Amino acid sequence: MKGRLGGLILGIESSCDETAAAVVRAGGEVLSNVVASQIALHTNYGGVVPELASREHLRNIVPVVRAAMASSGVEFGDLDAIAVTEGPGLAGALLVGITYAKALALGLGKPLIAVNHLEGHIHAVLMGESGNREQETGIRESLLALVVSGGHTHLYLAEQASDPTHDDGTVMNGAPGVWAYRNVGRTVDDAAGEAFDKVAKLLGMGYPSGPWMDALAAYGNPRAVEFHFGQIKPRAPRLGIVNKKAPGLPADGPTFDFSFSGIKTAVLRYVQGHEMRERVEARRVALLAALKANPRLKVAEALEIPGLFDAQTLDLIASFQFAVVGNLMRQTFAAAEAFGSRGIVVSGGVSANSELRRRFAEEADRRGLTVAFPTVAMSTDNAAMIAAAAWPKFVAGEFAGEGLVAVPQLRLG
Ligand code: KG4
Ligand code: ZN
Repeated sequence: MKGRLGGLILGIESSCDETAAAVVRAGGEVLSNVVASQIALHTNYGGVVPELASREHLRNIVPVVRAAMASSGVEFGDLDAIAVTEGPGLAGALLVGITYAKALALGLGKPLIAVNHLEGHIHAVLMGESGNREQETGIRESLLALVVSGGHTHLYLAEQASDPTHDDGTVMNGAPGVWAYRNVGRTVDDAAGEAFDKVAKLLGMGYPSGPWMDALAAYGNPRAVEFHFGQIKPRAPRLGIVNKKAPGLPADGPTFDFSFSGIKTAVLRYVQGHEMRERVEARRVALLAALKANPRLKVAEALEIPGLFDAQTLDLIASFQFAVVGNLMRQTFAAAEAFGSRGIVVSGGVSANSELRRRFAEEADRRGLTVAFPTVAMSTDNAAMIAAAAWPKFVAGEFAGEGLVAVPQLRLG
C-alpha cells in the first residue's frame, strides 16, 4: 500500500530523557509539539539514569500523546500513520515509545513507521518552521549534515531521491523522495555535547549544562587558553561496498572523524595545574544552593553572586567552547570541500549553541555555501522531527511490521 498525500502523522519519541509526541502534516506543518523533559529528575545524578528514564517515560507517554492530539485539533481516527523512534537510544526508554506506538497503530488500524533518531534530527532542519524546505534552507537534493548532540557527533552525506514513483510506475509530482545517507564522520570517543556536559561538571555545574556554558562563554576570553586537537587516524576504506540506497553518493572516500575526550582531559589538567579545585568545590555547593532557592536561576543572575564565576573560569569556558566549535567547523567544512557539498545542515542539541551558529554562518558565507539550523526548540529531542522524517517513508509506503523492536545501536548510513 502506498500512502496518500496530505498525511497527518503522529510522531512519538522516547530514546533518551525526553518523552515527546507531535502531530505534523505532510512533513512540514507542525500542528502540535509536546515535550516532557526529565532533566529535573536526572540532574541530581549528574547524568541520565536509564532505569529512571524508562519509568518516567511510562508515566509520561499517555498524557504526552493525549496533549499532543488535543492541541493539534486532530482526532485519532483522522491520523494517517503513527511514527516512532526505533533507535539509537536507551533500550528500555525506546521500548516504551515503540510498545505504545505499536498498540496505538494496531488499535486504530493505521500504518506504523520506524524512524532513526539521527534522521529525525536532520529533518528538524529540513522541515523548517514554514514547512517549505526549499525556501527555508536553499537546499534540495543533496547535502552534508552534521548531527551534534549529547550522544552523537556524526557527519552524513544525505541525498533525496527525485521523482518518487507509485508501484504502477506513475510519478508522484512534487512528492518528497526518500532520503539515503552515508556516514562520513563520527566521534571515536565522546560526543561534543557530552564534552560540554563533562567539562561543565568538572567546573562545578549541573547536568545538562550546554545552555549554561553557551551563556557563560560570552563573558570570557576565547583566546585565553589554547586547546589543540590531535589528528585522528583515517578509517580504513570500505572497499567494494556500494551504497545501493544512494547510488548518487560516492560509495567510499575520505572520512572526517572527531574526538572530544582529549579536550576534556586538557581542561581537567588546567584546573589541577591552576589551583582551581577549591573554587570548583565552592561553586558546586553555592550553585546547588542557589538553584534550590530558585530552580529557574538565569546565568545573568548567577554572575551577580559574588565570587561564583571568576574571570579565569569564564576564560576557560570561552576557550573550551571556541576550540570545540572550531574543531566541528574544521571537519565539517573540510568534508564539504572533499565531497563538493554546497549545502550544510547542523542539528542536534549542540546546534543550539550561539557561537556555533554564528561561526558556521560566517564561514559558510565566506565560502559561498548555505548552512541551515533547526529552530532552537527543535535542536534538542522532540517528536515533530520524527513525524517529519516519517513523511517521505509514508509516501513511499515504507511501513514497519508488528515485529518492530528497539535497536539501541541503530546506525544511519
Ligand atoms: O539532541 P539532544 O537533546 O539529545 C541527544 O540526542 O543527545 O542534545 C542534548 C545535548 C546536551 O549534551 C546539551 O548539553 C547540549 O545538547 N546542548 C548544548 C546547548 N544546548 C544543548 N550544547 C552547547 N550549547 C548549547 N546552547
Ligand atoms: Zn537527540
